[in-house]
Amino acid sequence: SVRRGRKVEAHIEDYLSHKPRFNETFGNSFSRSSSSGSIATDEGLFEQPEPLASSRSMMEKILKRRSLQLREQQQAWQESLQGKKMLEFRRSLPAYKERDALLTAISQNQVIIISGQTGCGKTTQIPQYILESEIDSGNGALCNIICTQPRRISAISVSERVASERGEKLGESVGYKVRLEGVKGKDTHLLFCTTGILLRRLLVDRNLKGVTHVIVDEIHERGMNEDFLLIVLKDLLPRRTELKLILMSATLDAELFSSYFGGAPIVRIPGFTYPVQTYFLEDILEMSGYKLTPYNQIDDYGQEKMWKMGKQAPRKRKSQIASAVEDALGAADFEDYSPQTRESLSCWNPDCIGFNLIEYILCHICENERPGAVLVFMTGWDDISSLKDKLQTHPVLGDPTRVLLLACHGSMATSEQRLIFDEPADGVRKIVLATNIAETSITINDVVFVLDCGKAKETSYDALNNTPCLLPSWISKVSAQQRRGRAGRVQPGECYHLYPRCVYDAFAEYQLPEILRTPLQSLCLQIKSLKLGSISEFLSRALQSPELLAVQNAIDYLKIIGALDENENLTLLGRYLSMLPVEPKLGKMLILGAILNCLDPILTIVAGLSVRDPFLTPFDKKDLAEAAKSQFSRDYSDHLALVRAYEGWKDAEINFGGYDYCWKNFLSVQSMKAIDALRKDFFSLLRDTGLPDGHTSTSTAWNRDEHLIRAIICYGLYPGICSVVNNEKSSSLKTMEDGQVLLYSNSVNARESQIPYPWLAFNEKIKVKSVFLRDSTAVSDSMVLLFGGSIVRGDMDGHLKMLGGYLEFFMNLSVVEMYETIKRLLDELIQDK
Ligand code: CDP
Ligand code: MG
Repeated sequence: SVRRGRKVEAHIEDYLSHKPRFNETFGNSFSRSSSSGSIATDEGLFEQPEPLASSRSMMEKILKRRSLQLREQQQAWQESLQGKKMLEFRRSLPAYKERDALLTAISQNQVIIISGQTGCGKTTQIPQYILESEIDSGNGALCNIICTQPRRISAISVSERVASERGEKLGESVGYKVRLEGVKGKDTHLLFCTTGILLRRLLVDRNLKGVTHVIVDEIHERGMNEDFLLIVLKDLLPRRTELKLILMSATLDAELFSSYFGGAPIVRIPGFTYPVQTYFLEDILEMSGYKLTPYNQIDDYGQEKMWKMGKQAPRKRKSQIASAVEDALGAADFEDYSPQTRESLSCWNPDCIGFNLIEYILCHICENERPGAVLVFMTGWDDISSLKDKLQTHPVLGDPTRVLLLACHGSMATSEQRLIFDEPADGVRKIVLATNIAETSITINDVVFVLDCGKAKETSYDALNNTPCLLPSWISKVSAQQRRGRAGRVQPGECYHLYPRCVYDAFAEYQLPEILRTPLQSLCLQIKSLKLGSISEFLSRALQSPELLAVQNAIDYLKIIGALDENENLTLLGRYLSMLPVEPKLGKMLILGAILNCLDPILTIVAGLSVRDPFLTPFDKKDLAEAAKSQFSRDYSDHLALVRAYEGWKDAEINFGGYDYCWKNFLSVQSMKAIDALRKDFFSLLRDTGLPDGHTSTSTAWNRDEHLIRAIICYGLYPGICSVVNNEKSSSLKTMEDGQVLLYSNSVNARESQIPYPWLAFNEKIKVKSVFLRDSTAVSDSMVLLFGGSIVRGDMDGHLKMLGGYLEFFMNLSVVEMYETIKRLLDELIQDK
């Protein structure tokens, strides 16, 4: 049965191999021209002069002339009035004092590490120093500098800044390139790009021909892509002895990187910060005459709340700050708490940000404190926009003659970005609500006050491993210090940490590098698609190698889902998956959805799995919320419930009823909008692989057969599957590895006493005390048999003899007949199940 089962996958592989664009896509150069008029991936990062030059001497001539031009332009700018002004500013940055030392170190070493406080001028100045000195020495046209950024937004904003510092428009000597977007020209010699873009470039150009300097920025963040890139570059250095590698870090622990590169020299840029007065939650309270006491020390009240106001704040006379604090702490729900352990931090619900407390402190600053901008660290776009909405209705904070309220996050518009750096009018206080992007990558000059909620979403990276599912979690001590440091750049500052000191004490010292805390499946796929050899051997050479078990798990998973074959070679499916920057299970759903012309609902499901759960369950309205959700769920599937909820919202939205609809149905407007946007992203990613045919672009042509959707969900989520054992009154669930498992209470299936299907495909399982499943869809034997993998199939062989006949029949079909037949087969099988 295992061999027989394989054949369905063979059909899919067969289909993929017959896609006309396949060879175009993978054949020689991994080229793709994107629909949005952007730069194709196979295009080199820099223009090569060769095509123009018929001979060597002619080429040299061209380059020489070009170099001279560059020098003239640069000198003209530096001598102009504006240019002089700009130079004056640039010379005031701490990095400038180290300019000569840096350039000497770079010329004498293949690898150097630069560390310096945020704002000292690493990102904007160092690539420029290199470019300027090459231009000055008459080699401008020969030098090609790449500077990688972990985030799209910093690549774009930094390149704009550097171009303007050079008195140019973007796309002259300075350009940028991020996924689906970029500006560069034939004279671009300094290119800012995301780390993912450089990794993709390495796919087709293993030696980075023509590139003279690679600068990897923000290495202290230890993102997966950066760690991955460092292994690849370390391999490349001996092959490209003239290539220079420069690593830049905002923290001072650069030794790790230095020893990784055989004792590469470290250049430190001395920084200076003014003292910052620090307040923790209890200090904020004490200033107002209240005392915060952990609840296990007072036994007279509150079962469900952990922190209580002390005796000074009797309940009846609760002041504004007391209720503000309750709001900050209120959603914490827990049984026991010991501040010594990191686990205990989960007692403080990271979803709870304490908007009232923030509003109270902001108002206090505006009314009582000296001038200076305020920077508020939040976790993401959704809480920033809700807080902004709330503050805008406040009599003081919402008054534009007193307060300039701005947001700063990964997806803001460029016009808004500029406002962040500008000084507001006299008497107006600038308040910036930011994500951790303002921790190190973006510097706002006039900040004096910082509010730190203590939480962040795990960073999402641009291309290769973008799993947009981000949940807030506690930051590290280093991050908290970085945030605090933002207050002391121009004068002594103040920092309000919106959590008690004992919570801070329990923070981890550093954030674990991403490679050690995320599943490695996508990374392993990339290693294979870059043809970097054995996965475990490659990863053993990382800065900090992931555990062998984690690597083996990832490889096993990729084999089970058919992305790697027995010998760890990439299958065709695996290659398609490696092109889609999403988790493999989501990629599989997208691919099969495209093949079976069923993409519309699948896009919704995949987008829905990538955002915060759109179904809200407020504590006090749990029953109403559940009733609202149950209207969407008549068929034992959380995923289909989501599709219905989204489609209902979309209909309502057309008539401007989106908000009402969400309000009535306990849905998150933000999640709905995010799903809407992600659907488009996923579709364009998929189109780049060449999969959906032209005619699938109109939604009316899309199939919406429910059984087909279930089958695709099963295909994607496998091996995430458990069997349903129906007793007289209830159903119990089992997986092979865990035995009995339970459903999260918010699953539509948790409310059913019986699930009249033999299997549940689930999105995720989480071990707390028991194993809980999140988001599930009931699927039939036939779906598991056809679209699951060999493990469960082997299991079912005994009691599924009947299906064998169908299967034989199915196997003999041509690819063209596949879709209609699968659909009919599923219908039939489900009816006489
Ligand atoms: O990379 P690092 O954090 O060391 O600093 P940077 O991003 O190079 O920024 C250096 C300085 O340039 C900042 O302190 C800002 O004063 C200024 N800058 C600016 O005014 N506008 C920008 N868009 C970027 C930087
Ligand atoms: Mg920087």
